[in-house]
Amino acid sequence: QTNREPHRPQYHFSPKTNWMNDPNGMVYLNGTYHLFFQYHPNGTTWGPMHWGHATSKDMVHWQEQPIALYPDSLGTIFSGSAVVDVNNTSGFGKNGQTPLVAIFTHHNPELEKKKTGTHQYQSLAYSLDEGKTWTKYAGNPVVPNPGIVDFRDPKVRWYEPQKKWIMTLATKDRITFYSSPNLKNWAKESEFGQNVGAHGGVWECPDLFPLTHNGKQAWVLLVSINPGGPNGGSATQYFVGDFDGKTFKPYSTQTKWMDYGTDNYAGVTFANTGNRTVLMGWMSNWQYAQVVPTSAWRSATTVPRELGLTEVNKELYLTSAPVKELDALNGKTIRLNNISVKGQYDLTAKTGGPSGLFKLTLSAAATQDFAIVLANEQGNELVLGYDKAANQYYIDRSKAGKTAFEKGFGKRHTAPRLSTDGSVSLTLLADVASVELFADNGLTVMTDIFFPETDMKKVFIKSGTGVSIRTLQYTPLTPSVDA
Ligand code: FRU
Repeated sequence: QTNREPHRPQYHFSPKTNWMNDPNGMVYLNGTYHLFFQYHPNGTTWGPMHWGHATSKDMVHWQEQPIALYPDSLGTIFSGSAVVDVNNTSGFGKNGQTPLVAIFTHHNPELEKKKTGTHQYQSLAYSLDEGKTWTKYAGNPVVPNPGIVDFRDPKVRWYEPQKKWIMTLATKDRITFYSSPNLKNWAKESEFGQNVGAHGGVWECPDLFPLTHNGKQAWVLLVSINPGGPNGGSATQYFVGDFDGKTFKPYSTQTKWMDYGTDNYAGVTFANTGNRTVLMGWMSNWQYAQVVPTSAWRSATTVPRELGLTEVNKELYLTSAPVKELDALNGKTIRLNNISVKGQYDLTAKTGGPSGLFKLTLSAAATQDFAIVLANEQGNELVLGYDKAANQYYIDRSKAGKTAFEKGFGKRHTAPRLSTDGSVSLTLLADVASVELFADNGLTVMTDIFFPETDMKKVFIKSGTGVSIRTLQYTPLTPSVDA
């Protein structure tokens, strides 16, 4: 295989072969970023789960590593997190070594068949060689199942004020928080969410982390749900509030979505990145992930995104921005100022032949509709833009190539514009078979995948009413995967 197959992302991580879903155990350790992921090494659809593994120095160039965690007598290996146990609270470190500890869900297919409803429970594994080899803890499971069918995806972080670990766990229609001094013994602290937020599907893959806004700390709780996303299938909602080591209290009960596109699911943040909070998601959707038309492999991660908070009309919202490390891929930027577009403006001509991999940043008065169109020789078109009357952003992939594999795939997706700013600003990342749209400094985000018959190498800006583009920057990006 070549890494250049049709639809293979060129600067996102995708496994060389076979099936991937959620990112797991993301952690930064001694200069290396680790990505583990839900992996089925024997097929291109979901199956008995392992933790695949990839490493990177910059979150942009990834090297796939041997499988980290294999199924065992307690079950297959579902989603979870990893922490650097600096104080060796677990005692797994011997002779001064710092253990890397994975906290994951064991999913027991034998018990599942017996329909006891107790087939998911939380377990530990540790590594003393920076994630190369792993030992499962002999005392597994560390959180047995209390009789909840959906009981999974532990995300663990250190809570410094009370010097204890906090586990955020998805428990069917709510989140349950646990705490532990040593990662081995866990006590239930509280529950959140039974009557708040979106409940169109089961709650999965949560994350809880602090962010600072105007010098004040607030806690963000991410909750992925499947189905029930704003544009169908799986998606990730979030809450902003206070956390005191025991209870999470949201500031408001408004339902908020981290990403309105259909293809950013189960995203969580890296552990051990200091003051930075960086998330990667699974760039697909349970609605069609297993039938998308890729051959040797299925799925990729989103680009890493730095998260922040911003305030609009007294509400705090999460913002996402592509990490600055991605700039390493930048080719020569073309800058254009004050362009009036009425009808169609051919950006392709200006850029000397776009590549299908690019970053486009622009700002325009928020007074008129405009669209960015990605196209190829076959007449496939991906259209995204700003709809003034509806005050929405949208991505329309209904004519962007192959759609017949799933009836709900070829659709137009929308997202509310939350910003009240007089000018619209967009950053768009295109990579062969995906677009990631960050509007208004990442306040409204949309991620969509698509499957063009050949690469989309033409770019147009369109506006029926006419729009004045104040600034525009087009940067071709170089692949980060090996040829
Ligand atoms: C989310 C999810 C998790 C689960 C994993 C199984 O996509 O359903 O809840 O742990 O995938 O692969």
